[in-house]
Parts: sequence; C-alpha cells; structure tokens
Amino acid sequence: MLTVSGLTIAFGATVAVRDVALTAAPGTVTGILGANGAGKTTTLLGILHRVPRRTGTVVLDGRDVTGHDTGALVRAGIALCPQNRRLFPNMSIADNLLLGAYGHGRAVRRERLARTYERFGWMRERADEPAGRLSGGQQQAVAIARALMSEPRLLLLDEPSSGLSPVAVQEIAGLLAEITADGTALLLVEQNVGLVRRLCSTAHILAHGRVTGAGPVSELLTDDTVSDAYLGTLT
Ligand SMILES: Nc1ncnc2c1ncn2[C@@H]1O[C@H](COP(=O)(O)OP(=O)(O)OP(=O)(O)O)[C@@H](O)[C@H]1O
Ligand SMILES: [Mg+2]
Repeated sequence: MLTVSGLTIAFGATVAVRDVALTAAPGTVTGILGANGAGKTTTLLGILHRVPRRTGTVVLDGRDVTGHDTGALVRAGIALCPQNRRLFPNMSIADNLLLGAYGHGRAVRRERLARTYERFGWMRERADEPAGRLSGGQQQAVAIARALMSEPRLLLLDEPSSGLSPVAVQEIAGLLAEITADGTALLLVEQNVGLVRRLCSTAHILAHGRVTGAGPVSELLTDDTVSDAYLGTLT
C-alpha cells in the first residue's frame, strides 16, 4: 500500500538518502535498520515531505502523494511517531494526545481521546499529569498513542525502543504487534535487532543513505549482515 521509489534527499551538497526504494503493507511491520547517520530518519521525513527531496515518488494506495503537505498526508492516513518521542513534557498527557488529532473538530478529538483511553486505561487516570513525569516506556506509549489519534493506516516509527529498559521494550513490542494486528501498516526504524526480528516480516538495511540489503528478516538478518550494518562497512 506504500511504495517509495527512487527517493533521493540532499541537504545542500550532502546527499543523505540516495535512490531508496521500499514498500509497506497493511498488517505487517517493515523494518529499516542502519547505523547512526545512515539516513533512516531522513527517509521517514522524506516520505512526509519534511526534508528537501531531489527525486523520488511516494505512492499510497495507488495514489501519488509525493510532495503533499503534512496535513494532506495525515488525511491520506500517514502518521509519524518521531525519534526521541517529542512529547511536550510540561503539557498534560491529555493535551499531548490531543495534538495527534490536530485539525479535527472538538467532537472528533474528544471521541478519539475516549477511544485512546479505552485502550490505555492508565492514560485516563493520569490524563492531567505532565507527560514529563512519566517513565520512558510510558512516554513512548503516549507518543505512539498520540500518533494513533489521527487513525493512520500507515504508521512511521523512528526508534521507539531507544533509551528504554528491556521490560519497556517488550511492552512497546507488544503494543506494536497489537496495532499491526488491527491491520495498520508499520514502517519501523530500529537499531534494536531483536525487536526487528520479533516484529518485522521484511526489512531494509540502510548504509550511507543507500539500501544495501532488503528482504525477509529471516534471510536478511544473518549475523554478518547485522554486524556489517552496525560497523558501517556496507557501502
Ligand atoms: N537537517 C539536516 N541538515 C543537514 N544534514 C542533515 C540534516 N538532517 C540529517 N542530515 C545528515 O544526513 C545524514 C543522515 O541523517 P539521519 O538523521 O537520517 O540518520 P539516522 O540514520 O536517522 O541516524 P540516527 O540513528 O543517529 O538517528 C547524516 O549525515 C546527517 O548529518
Ligand atoms: Mg534517526
């Protein structure tokens, strides 16, 4: 349902992402792995047209949405759960969640907040607390719940396990599995190979802005390719 082809993104003379192609399908998790600076975040932001694109197309459900603005992409069904979560720590949990339904009328926002609380009962109980008071894992859950407030069909996640304890990582993994089972397509940027093995059917390895490997996780993530991706020796 998502097909990205020929995506090249440059910041001035620096080409951060070069000729990247990938797909994501409903009810599956597609992984993007790679070392620091490989171009993972830039790829996600390129899909959302938030970085300078030189070439490439983004097609969602057969519709070319290349270069559409953020509002149009959200309406088309794409949401981002950004790197480092980007919650507003001094704002309440409820207000952070409501930002995910920005642009909708009051009634819709309330209804979606109520639905979020059905899934995450503890967020209702702590709705008025500042988000910054939560643990890392809870903040990540709020960041994911905020992204779900736009009711996406495609959810882009940028290193959701980063900085979390092993127990919190397992909880986030469980949540992502649930969201996938609901039929949402997930595009998951991760450096946690265990999480990729657990969740992803297929994955792409990015190195120096290029896809250097792609395919079923079981075939792709042999020990050599993983260490190469992290040592950055793939070119
Ligand atoms: N706004 C920007 N201006 C200039 N260069 C940028 C910008 N954003 C990213 N880059 C460069 O593009 C390259 C890819 O960065 P990107 O953030 O996509 O990497 P990443 O794979 O997400 O890394 P990490 O794992 O550290 O998050 C890096 O060399 C980075 O310095
Ligand atoms: Mg990144």
